[in-house]
Amino acid sequence: MLKAVILIGGPQKGTRFRPLSLDTPKPLFPIAGLPLIQHHIEACAKLEECKEILIIGAYTTNTMMQFVNDMQKEYHVIIRYLQEFTPLGTGGGLYHFRDQVRAGNPAAFFLLNGDVCADFPLKELWHFHEERPNALVTIMGTEATRQQSVHYGSMVRDSATKSVSHYVEKPNSYVSTLINCGVYVCSLQVFHTMADAFQKKQDGFYSGNGQGSPHPGYMSFEQDVLMPLAGTNKLYAMQVTTWWSQVKTAGSAIYANRHYLELHRDRVTKDNPCTILPDVFVHPTATVDSTAVIGPNVSIGAGVTIKAGVRIKESIILNNATVHDHALVMYSVVGQEASVGEWSRVEGTPSDPDPNKPFAKMDNTPLFNTDGRLNPSITILGAGVVVPAETILLNSIVLPHKHLTRSFKHEIIL
Ligand code: GDD
Ligand code: GTP
Repeated sequence: MLKAVILIGGPQKGTRFRPLSLDTPKPLFPIAGLPLIQHHIEACAKLEECKEILIIGAYTTNTMMQFVNDMQKEYHVIIRYLQEFTPLGTGGGLYHFRDQVRAGNPAAFFLLNGDVCADFPLKELWHFHEERPNALVTIMGTEATRQQSVHYGSMVRDSATKSVSHYVEKPNSYVSTLINCGVYVCSLQVFHTMADAFQKKQDGFYSGNGQGSPHPGYMSFEQDVLMPLAGTNKLYAMQVTTWWSQVKTAGSAIYANRHYLELHRDRVTKDNPCTILPDVFVHPTATVDSTAVIGPNVSIGAGVTIKAGVRIKESIILNNATVHDHALVMYSVVGQEASVGEWSRVEGTPSDPDPNKPFAKMDNTPLFNTDGRLNPSITILGAGVVVPAETILLNSIVLPHKHLTRSFKHEIIL
């Protein structure tokens, strides 16, 4: 029997995802028609041996309950949400709830960062781990460029045994192009390593050395578990070449949307309500005029209305939004219940990885550049925003419930 743990952080994390996370917690933001972490759940549920999924985070139980109930109905796996009393880091929550993970004595458990998206090769990862009886943790790794590798966990591994000899979390200078994807298989004995780390933290905290630590229970899985395990023949890495990306900035939602749509082609809309350029997901409750042209890479949520002559590409339209006649939406996210007026143009700039660099990942560009100007990015309309007819909105972010009266370029509209 196997289990899975998904780490989702809390409301104070995912700040770079604002304003998309203002009304929907980032882990529940819909990508290709499914909440971000439902893609994780689906990958776990596909594995017959996986009997329980524990979602650990600092969001309130109220925020997560509806989602967990929905998931429980949809998949034949036990799914539970465990709330941390305070953010305990990538290791602290896992350690705090260790009895829940150990219950039933699973052979191992998957540990998944909630803010990544991928074609999760969980079966291969599990077999890789199983074949190495010494392994306490197997990391899913991927190749990054030399420059980008320092923004991730970086590791060096033995080419024959695949054992990790050196692990540095977000190194100051180049270590290796093999990076940590935030997806692991762990044996239950990892809790012994965590117990040692926990004890050290407690000693440090109460003797005054741990003053910088936010909480005595705070633990980083990367710093407190992976780093000490490197070089002991208990830490391994399986390298994958399939698609993988972080979901940090709002721009990465559009990028992830494209890949998940491709991955889930089987689920994509079959009875085309209009001209569709694949891949496109249209929720069955959306109303789409037959003269609209949609795609590629568009997700249309529940209750959305798309009127005559509308053109949408590379975008996510959230629940109950309306796009009026002949409007154009490109590289944008249109918030819930927002409205785009007739003949208006809502357009953003994609932040895709550099196609000319092999293994390049998305750059998580900050909102503002060093001159204090907005970096070109996707356009985002917050919930309930109204864009009047015949206006142009380019590379802008509009906060929720704003009624615009004119065109904007490269602005944040508060
Ligand atoms: N439950 C809980 N509690 N989850 C947390 C907490 C916490 O206190 N802090 C972070 N998380 C969750 C986040 O929501 C996210 O899904 C995941 O743990 C990773 O947390 P970050 O702190 O944002 O780390 P990172 O994304 O910068 O780096 C990690 O992931 C990279 C791959 O995406 C590291 O593991 C890197 O080594 C790795 O390359
Ligand atoms: P193509 O080379 O024809 O794809 O256009 P483009 O790439 O030069 O134009 P752009 O990327 O700006 O627009 C993408 C699609 O939206 C194209 O298919 C255009 O025909 C269509 N389009 C552009 N502007 C508008 C508009 O104001 N209203 C509508 N309804 N469609 C538009």
